[in-house]
Amino acid sequence: MKKLTAALLTSVAAATLSFASMGASAGDAAVGKAKSMTCAGCHGANGISNNGMWPNLAGQKEAYLASQLKMFRSGERVNPMMTAMSKGLSDADIANLSAYYASLK
Ligand code: HEC
Repeated sequence: MKKLTAALLTSVAAATLSFASMGASAGDAAVGKAKSMTCAGCHGANGISNNGMWPNLAGQKEAYLASQLKMFRSGERVNPMMTAMSKGLSDADIANLSAYYASLK
């Protein structure tokens, strides 16, 4: 009985661990939403921009959003507004923001 309990606890712990690491790599849309307040001024509160020069982000592919943000941050893609916006973003911020905008319709 003791052995069974220990085995059970171990598998629960392993499942919790793998779930936690999954969340970290895939990006957390809820955290991204909170972070998106500074982006909403240009890209719209729901990821739909109201200016012809500012792209919509809602429903865009998550991997594409992340790669573009990393390119702005590294200087590979240049835009005065986005270069400034991306400078302060960590890899986790980028993953979370990308998950959030990809989740919008
Ligand atoms: C001051 C206005 C402004 C703000 C604030 C802003 N952006 Fe942008 N964003 C732009 C413009 C303009 C472009 C188009 C850049 C270009 O033409 O290359 C753009 C492009 C992008 C793109 C690439 C879209 C595509 O289709 O290639 C992404 C992703 C993006 N922004 C994400 C963000 C995120 C995330 C934030 C908040 C951290 C943010 N932006 C804040 C103006 C802004």
